[in-house]
Amino acid sequence: MTPTRKRRLHLNVQSSYPGHPAGWRTEEGRRLPGEDIAHIQAVARVAEKALFNTVFLADSPSMTDTGEAPTRSLDPVVLLAAAALATERVGFILTASTTFTHPYNLARQILSLEQLSKGRFAWNIVTTTDERASGNFGMSKMPPPAERYAIAADFTDAFVKLCDSWEDAALTGDPQTGVWADISRIHAIDHKGPYFSISGPMQVPRSPQGRPMLVQAGSSPIGRDFAARYADAVFTVQTVREEAIAYYSDVKSRIRGRGRDPDKVAILPGLSLVMGGTEKEAHARLDWLDQIANDRSTLETFANSLGLEACDLDYDKPFPEHLLASVEEGDWLRRSTGHNQAKLRLLKEPTLTVRQIIARGSGGHFRLVGTPEQVADFMEDWADAGAADGFNLFLDVYPSGLASFAEHVVPILQRRGRHRTEYEGPTLRDHFGLERPANRLISNPRDLTPSS
Ligand SMILES: Cc1cc2nc3c(=O)[nH]c(=O)nc-3n(C[C@H](O)[C@H](O)[C@H](O)COP(=O)(O)O)c2cc1C
Repeated sequence: MTPTRKRRLHLNVQSSYPGHPAGWRTEEGRRLPGEDIAHIQAVARVAEKALFNTVFLADSPSMTDTGEAPTRSLDPVVLLAAAALATERVGFILTASTTFTHPYNLARQILSLEQLSKGRFAWNIVTTTDERASGNFGMSKMPPPAERYAIAADFTDAFVKLCDSWEDAALTGDPQTGVWADISRIHAIDHKGPYFSISGPMQVPRSPQGRPMLVQAGSSPIGRDFAARYADAVFTVQTVREEAIAYYSDVKSRIRGRGRDPDKVAILPGLSLVMGGTEKEAHARLDWLDQIANDRSTLETFANSLGLEACDLDYDKPFPEHLLASVEEGDWLRRSTGHNQAKLRLLKEPTLTVRQIIARGSGGHFRLVGTPEQVADFMEDWADAGAADGFNLFLDVYPSGLASFAEHVVPILQRRGRHRTEYEGPTLRDHFGLERPANRLISNPRDLTPSS
């Protein structure tokens, strides 16, 4: 029997906030608002040294934070431009909302980043789940999820056309002939969708990697369909191995159903890590971080986020069962379906105390506390079981947790044939093993050359 080739993992690091809520309160993880640019550049450099596919920045156009952790403040376009200039190979995933931006503006921004980085960008397509964002854009409330996804589809169709409005050879820049751009190779898009009408063409040349990659995170049926239709990579929250396998298989079959190759779409569950040289050390590190996280204000914040008072909860007891109904019915479940399910699962878990729930970030991605070998074993197991093509990693403290992953886990994965030993090429699509996409507009171009 021929042994099946071990598949390499796609590694992405989430860089917006530490995987442990106390990460930013440690000496090594402390960052001040003015230092955000230096912080993201430091994270990107470590990720590049560790030969990661991508660095991901989450975002929402609203002040969503409680004041308990560093805010998402600076514009991700600015932050990731700075990070791209500090690196040469690693890719970046920029989050932008289809509810609160316009396809033309976003395409111009991302295509500009593509030029600046020489083809290392992906767009994380979000519809935004935070209700507060609507007040920042003259809306009395957020459109319902189905409409947000309909807007997102129209937005993405227009975005892709704008990315393709220049043929690859359109930019000539020929000083001899004086022809800067061959206008016959630049095309209007004439997009007329239910939400957006855009004539085009885009004013920025085609991306060095053909088109920026598209990333999406949707757990609801409509979200999964959206991912199957558009995404080159999919983020997901999975806390139970069997459910992760079921999700993986469902999304892959939806991709197949769309006539796309499921092997060309990477599914990346989140994985939150606390590591130590031995299991004991890893747990001691978690205890240390938990101690920092669990002061009174943290309990209050946690309780308030669920519509409760601190006195309703006991740190060292499980979440009270009789409060679950009010939490489920309350309007606190504003985040994604996947996040909501993960959070409820934690609250319902009788073996976890409130202290432990808070230490896990109050609901979210799978938390693994262990040695570098255990981390590598876990990643291999999920990949081989058909639960993951790679991971969206959350390190407890940045950038030191990431540096520790680079130093201790990466060599193990490389020895096991699960991680690259050098970048395959210069663009982000190269890192994901994706071909340069054909220009979809050229099959039906409308020449811009004046007819007279
Ligand atoms: C790993 C992950 C990261 C996400 N990042 C963002 C983000 O940065 N901004 C945002 O508005 N939504 C973010 N989301 C939410 C999703 O984009 C999406 O809106 C949400 O999953 C709703 O779809 P669903 O109900 O189909 O799951 C994220 C979701 C996941 C799982």
